[in-house]
Amino acid sequence: MVRHEKVVVLDFGAQYSQLIARAVREQHVYCEILPYTVSVDSLLEIAPRAIILSGGPASIYDREAPKCDPKIFSLGVPVLGICYGMQLIGSYENATIKKAGKREYGKAILKIEDFSDLFAGFEDESEIQVWMSHGDSLAGVPVGYWLLAATENCPVAAIGSREKKIYGVQFHPEVAHTPLGHKVIANFLFSVAGCTPDWTPGSFIEEATRAITEKVGKDKVICALSGGVDSSVAALLVHRAIGDNLTCIFVDHGLLRQDEAAAVEETFKVHYKMNLVTVDAADRFINALAGVIDPEGKRRIIGETFIRVFENEARKLGDVSWLVQGTLYPDVIESVSVKGPSATIKTHHNVGGLPDEMDLALIEPLRELFKDEVRAVGRELGLVEGIVSRHPFPGPGLAVRVLGEVTRQRIEILRRSDHIFISEIRQEGLYDEIWQALAVLLPVQTVGVMGDERTYDNVIALRAVTSRDGMTADWYRMPQETLSRISNRIINEVDGVNRVVYDISSKPPATIEWE
Ligand code: XMP
Repeated sequence: MVRHEKVVVLDFGAQYSQLIARAVREQHVYCEILPYTVSVDSLLEIAPRAIILSGGPASIYDREAPKCDPKIFSLGVPVLGICYGMQLIGSYENATIKKAGKREYGKAILKIEDFSDLFAGFEDESEIQVWMSHGDSLAGVPVGYWLLAATENCPVAAIGSREKKIYGVQFHPEVAHTPLGHKVIANFLFSVAGCTPDWTPGSFIEEATRAITEKVGKDKVICALSGGVDSSVAALLVHRAIGDNLTCIFVDHGLLRQDEAAAVEETFKVHYKMNLVTVDAADRFINALAGVIDPEGKRRIIGETFIRVFENEARKLGDVSWLVQGTLYPDVIESVSVKGPSATIKTHHNVGGLPDEMDLALIEPLRELFKDEVRAVGRELGLVEGIVSRHPFPGPGLAVRVLGEVTRQRIEILRRSDHIFISEIRQEGLYDEIWQALAVLLPVQTVGVMGDERTYDNVIALRAVTSRDGMTADWYRMPQETLSRISNRIINEVDGVNRVVYDISSKPPATIEWE
């Protein structure tokens, strides 16, 4: 594959490493995250156009403080140190680093002293809001460096040496709370490091298509298509490269949302004219789930059944050598960052996660992409907006939203309630403001009254959250009128429901799904 210019983020355990990489890619420059332990030889092989040192929780004075090879500073490759990364530069340059009495955390006003390099073009905004989250800080400007900016609490908040092409900022330009942070990053990439903005969805598609064609030749390829954005974009890319040598298998496990199976057929078979095999395996899944109430048990059964059904279909196709998987970049980063809690709290089942024993070589065309880039590539490929901007949906489907036993009848109650919920928020224009919205059928019944009759029926919980990546989330402040209309419609239109509640828990401590 033609390689783009690369920027490398060295990760020192920062909470924000992925945000740094995304901020760089938003400037159309390709960027990868590597652990700080990477050797200089490996770096030289990668030949990065610039290196960004991330922040991190450590103090430079800790005995175990993570330190990169100091040779990095003399390669002549431009370096930007962010927060802890700036302290590393200070320490390398023998500057005095003030040990913090207490951490500074929150918004601060940055006064810019030097309007060249990192702060070129800021003349009209000499004081900007920035986000601080640090303990130690530099007590003075290292020899050979200039002071670029200061805040009240942090007199050395940005430094730079044009000669060495090394810069440091104490604040976090990569977070939304530093509204002009993208300009600082762009200045570093383009003015300091001379990068070319050549990382675009269009260039990615061209290169990925070429690479897939070269790799696969005339072999046959299969793809487990779920209708979610990742597997859809992965399938489209491979189809663009090899056409009819790709067969997609869509397993309808009977746990999908309303009209979902029909939409997948319409999009891929009718619109894109792809080879699509739809397997109606609802009975098999629902029978296998009978009597199971444990959430992990449900996930395991669905995962195993999925594999058996998929293998069976794949075998019918005969001579297949490759399997497409929609793996994304966050899954492959070899990072020192701590993974969010959801990675270990639930066994995530992805329909792409198929077993090793199938003995197929993998094509993972999205391995280099963040989720928002997958969406951008999807749009560029002409994928309908309904799929591109769709809320995430778990592999085990409605089974983990029917709390307690999964029966056809209970799935149907949930499916109809969910459909009303999603249609109403779409109607109100709220869908795209919400990261994920879902309905849950609770395993309790409550007393109600309809007409003059006493009822003893089901409860539907509604959940809507805002989030950036699903790792943390806040509950969405849904307008009361909308909630009221949704509740009325569900209770009136869905037999078996007499109560609707709204979930007001954030993640953590609650997770997004209830199971
Ligand atoms: P939680 O519930 O852990 O969910 O806060 C975070 C995100 O992951 C989705 N999720 C899953 N996705 N297979 C998936 O493909 C799963 O088993 C699974 N469980 C949760 C969830 O919908 C949310 O977007």
